[in-house]
Amino acid sequence: MIAVDLKSETDFASWRTRARSLLAADIQPGMIAWRTNPADRDLFGEQPSPLPERDIKVRVPRQFLTLAERAACHRDDERFARLYRLLYRLHHRDCALSDKSDPDIIWLEKRDKAVRRDIHKMHAFVRFRASGVSEFGREQFGAWFEPDNYIEELAVPFFVRRFPNMDWLIVTPRRTARYVDGELTYTDGGARDQLPAEDAVEDQWRTYFASIFNPARLKTKAMTAEMPKRYWKNLPEAQLIPSLIASSTTRAREMQAAAPQPANPRAATIMRQRELTAPQAEPLNTLAAVNAAARTCTRCDLCRHASQTVLGEGPQSARLMIVGEQPGDQEDIAGRPFIGPAGKLLDQSLAHSGIERSTTYLTNAVKHFKFTPRGKRRIHSKPNAGEINQCRWWLNLEREFVQPEIILAMGATALRGVLGRAGRLTDYRGQTLEIAKGVTLLTTVHPAYLLRLPDADRREQELARFRADLAQTAMLLEERTRASG
Ligand code: URA
Repeated sequence: MIAVDLKSETDFASWRTRARSLLAADIQPGMIAWRTNPADRDLFGEQPSPLPERDIKVRVPRQFLTLAERAACHRDDERFARLYRLLYRLHHRDCALSDKSDPDIIWLEKRDKAVRRDIHKMHAFVRFRASGVSEFGREQFGAWFEPDNYIEELAVPFFVRRFPNMDWLIVTPRRTARYVDGELTYTDGGARDQLPAEDAVEDQWRTYFASIFNPARLKTKAMTAEMPKRYWKNLPEAQLIPSLIASSTTRAREMQAAAPQPANPRAATIMRQRELTAPQAEPLNTLAAVNAAARTCTRCDLCRHASQTVLGEGPQSARLMIVGEQPGDQEDIAGRPFIGPAGKLLDQSLAHSGIERSTTYLTNAVKHFKFTPRGKRRIHSKPNAGEINQCRWWLNLEREFVQPEIILAMGATALRGVLGRAGRLTDYRGQTLEIAKGVTLLTTVHPAYLLRLPDADRREQELARFRADLAQTAMLLEERTRASG
């Protein structure tokens, strides 16, 4: 028997090099003991067996390596031995990946599927709790998760892409992934009580879950298949499930009775009259008071379905105001504008054009997320003219308090929100327009439009145009600074 040591339960890289040497020496699969755990060493003596120093051109489909790398993260103790057997058989043309009845191929596909599912669940069910702010001003979060398999290193890069601007910690019983100042490191696992206590983010998750829960479409079996009960203990929103299920029949009836009405542009006049006669709770004489009032806005129906009002963000002294369309799914949960995919593209493009997001006031023409539920997803839906008109009340107040010199409208909704009437983007793009004393309007496309372009070349061209629009905005700001001496 040949004993081969790997550095950890998931040391696929060493498995690959060692398997290659063993294959070159034509070592039969049954002759190898793969050891990932120091305790196994007692079984075959302390020392690993010396490996033959031969090399070989391994003849296996590339897809095998992809599947094998994931299967190597399965909790199956036999995984490295089974993978070597498969490698051996594939290399000797004794089986084919396409043979779905071969027990080894069935084994490989099952393990791959289980690992992919586990990764998917980790992406869906990690819930961060806020723990503070770092000395560099980065928000800090921590999360606890219990995966079924050894998937941490495969699953965590997703969170780096998704939350590059925060510092965070994901602790599992086996690994701790730390992302601090843009650097990801792993150490040993930990315990749940290392994490911060329950916080407001968990409330947001509950609000979000309650808002997307559709009692009329409740299928308890499908729901528990998608969100298995064993994850519930770490999901703040899962506490709501029993009561939401219990009340679903009544709520479904209520929903039928009060089916959502699309906001009617003609209602704008009536609403405006109501506004004039309605008493204001607090005088709106500061931006903070405006923001506080906007949180309870019911000027249109969108407030009934969105999780919260997403207000503008940035210094009140900002000289540049950038206006988008409406918050997206992620903004709706976090309560901050432009933090999702379109926001990331905007951030990169701003940096590219020399505009600092931190000195800019970023806001939206519409402050609530409008969406259509599709299964468990919420699909963005364009605000209509009535909704934009209603929200213009808030945008105008923001303009009044921020007093930007330049407004950059991104997309047709933003343009309508700023102008108060419809305008064709192509008529305004590339132009500077004095819309009020000392206030210049520039117009460009919305970054989400760029993300939706299917053709890569076209996307490149449009991105370059978008950046050129931002560069024009930066230049105008600079000219104004120079002119004012
Ligand atoms: N798109 C927008 O227009 N605004 C956001 O805040 C996010 C996406």
